[in-house]
Formats: sequence, structure tokens, C-alpha cells
Amino acid sequence: MIDPFGRHVTYLRVSVTDRCDFRCVYCMAEDMEFLPKRDLLTLEELDRLSSTFIAKGVRKLRLTGGEPLVRKNIMYLIRSLSRHLETGALEELTLTTNGSQLKRFAGDLAAAGVRRINVSVDTLDADKFRSITRWGELKKVLEGIDAAQDAGLKVKLNAVALKGFNDAEIPSMITWAHGRGMDMTLIETMPMGEIDEDRTDQYLPLSQVRADLSQRWTLNDIPYKTGGPARYVEVAETGGRLGFITPMTHNFCESCNRVRVTCTGTLFMCLGQDDAVDLRAPLRASEGNEGLAQAIDDAISRKPKGHDFVIDRKTRTPAVSRHMSVTGG
Ligand code: GTP
Ligand code: 5AD
Ligand code: SF4
Repeated sequence: MIDPFGRHVTYLRVSVTDRCDFRCVYCMAEDMEFLPKRDLLTLEELDRLSSTFIAKGVRKLRLTGGEPLVRKNIMYLIRSLSRHLETGALEELTLTTNGSQLKRFAGDLAAAGVRRINVSVDTLDADKFRSITRWGELKKVLEGIDAAQDAGLKVKLNAVALKGFNDAEIPSMITWAHGRGMDMTLIETMPMGEIDEDRTDQYLPLSQVRADLSQRWTLNDIPYKTGGPARYVEVAETGGRLGFITPMTHNFCESCNRVRVTCTGTLFMCLGQDDAVDLRAPLRASEGNEGLAQAIDDAISRKPKGHDFVIDRKTRTPAVSRHMSVTGG
């Protein structure tokens, strides 16, 4: 699949549920309304949809949410999709999780061929963790990370950098992650959907964080690539890798290789744009995949050049109206 700008689409992010057992303040409003369960694609439909993308050239598949591990019978889907790892059609099957259910799932994930997962942890302070997730228990997540590492999964920590919340803690989080053999990625908060807070108050440019970290450590640019948007450095003093995801200060769209599909079968060609294509109708219209494959081709031919993350300074509303949890980032 090649888009109008010559970019090869080889990475599919599949949101298996819009539900989450946390309500991170930068992601969802506290009274977020979830979709009725009848609107969701079944696990069989998610499998067929993903497999069609794999047949069309997707090599990396990431399950997201909401929180992917709260989807009922999620292991059924993961085990089924892992057949594409065995045939070599798929290079990586992975997920991004908040870690709350990881203790229970770590062994099963490793047994199903998952090698690497990303876990979102924005602070290592239990009280602050509770406040940012609105009720999450840090201890559970840390136990989940331990279980994942014990099961042989490679874990990367994702932290959204938030002004006045975790900026002072970033160096100690990096030391902690690297000390445990984990890569860590810092993410700029992106204005998506209405939340209870004012995002302009939370936004922290990573250029500033990087400059601060450079005062303390030697950061060496490295060509490490995962197929995601992060650019990596190696921290000489810790020997660990640190990634920066900077959609607001540095546009990485020119090398974008990914599209995302929601749990209702809507395909978004860009995280930072509202244009979308319905794949549920062609998926359900026939048992064959020709109509679906055609709809995917039409969508790829509409993939925009880049995202549109702006906040209207007067109304302070984000240009992208849907929440991050619709596509799982
Ligand atoms: P790796 O495979 O480890 O590189 O993971 P990843 O960065 O592709 O996935 P992850 O789910 O860990 O996402 C980390 C952050 O990157 C999330 O906040 C995503 O929303 C963000 N992200 C991923 N792809 C894009 C993109 O195309 N555009 C923007 N703006 N952000 C993205
Ligand atoms: N901006 C940036 N990252 C976000 N995430 C959730 N909402 C936002 C946002 N508004 C992150 C989560 C998780 C990843 C999938 O996206 O913390 O690590
Ligand atoms: Fe849930 Fe992830 Fe959103 Fe937090 S950022 S509310 S863990 S989907």
C-alpha cells in the first residue's frame, strides 16, 4: 500500500475497544461515554480486517484501546493473529497497554508470540499516578511490568510529558527505566478531544526537556528504529535508550508508515486529522474480502500529508475533535 506521497503503509494500529479502566486527565473526561457494545466489531471481524491489511503489506500490528486488555477474550484474537507471525507475513505483533491487567496476561502474551510491549506510566509517585489516571493503582502496574519482564517480554515505558506534573521527575524515571533494562519514550501531549483540563497549561515542548537533560547527561543520537514516530538517543551514563515523540514541535509526518482502525471498523488515515473511511460496511457486505480490499485502497489514496494539531487560541478548542482513546494513539 503506497499513499499519494510515496509512503509505504506497513504499520496498522487496531483499537480493540474504546473502554479503559483508567481516565487519564489528558486523554479522557471523567464522564467519558463509551460505545454500546453492540457497535463493536466482533473478534472474528477484527481478525479478518487485520488479516486483510496483512495480506496487503502490513508488517507490524499494534493492538491499542482504550485499554486493549479489558476487551473480553482478547487472547483469542491475539492467538489467532499470531498465525501471521508463524508464516512470516507479520514481523511484529504487539500492544500498547496501561499495564493494569498485565500481571494476568504477561505469560499468555509471551506464549502467543508477542515479544515487546509499550506500557504507559506518566509518574512513579503513587499519589500522582492516582491523580493523573483518576484512580489507577501504580503498584498493580509495576507488578504487571515485573511479570512482563519475567515472561521475557521487552518493555518500553511511555510517558506523556506534562508541565508542572512530571517534568521534575523525568530524569529519575529515565534512571529507573534504564536501570531495569527498559527503553523509555517521552511524548508531547497532543490536543485531541475535549477534556476537563486546559491543554495549553499542560503542554511541555520536548525540545526544552531534551535541553535540560543534556545539561545532566550525554545524549547521543542513534539510528534505532521501531517503525514508530519516536527518534532515539542513547544516554551515555545509563546506557539506555530514550525516545522523543514530538508531533507539536517537530513534524515526523513525511516518513509516516501507519494507519489506524477503530473498534467499530472506522479507518483513520492520520491520527491528527478527522477524515475517516468506514470499513465495517464492506467487511459485513460479503464473506469475500474484495470489497474490503478496495475500500482500503481508496482510503490509502486519501492519506493526508500530515496532521493538524492546533488549538484555537480564542476558544481553546482542539482542531481534532475525537479523543485519543478512539484510536488508541
Ligand atoms: P514503537 O513500536 O515502540 O515505536 O511504538 P509507537 O510509538 O509506534 O506506539 P505507541 O502506542 O507506544 O505510541 C506512542 C505515542 O506515539 C502515542 O502517544 C501515539 O499517539 C503516538 N503516535 C504514534 N503514531 C503517531 C502518529 O502517526 N502521529 C502522531 N502524532 N503520534 C503518533
Ligand atoms: N497526547 C499524547 N499522548 C497521549 N496518550 C493518550 N492521550 C494522549 C495525548 N492527548 C498516550 C498514552 C499512551 C499512548 C497510546 O498515547 O499515554 O502512552
Ligand atoms: Fe486509558 Fe490510556 Fe487513555 Fe489513560 S491514556 S485513559 S490508560 S486509554
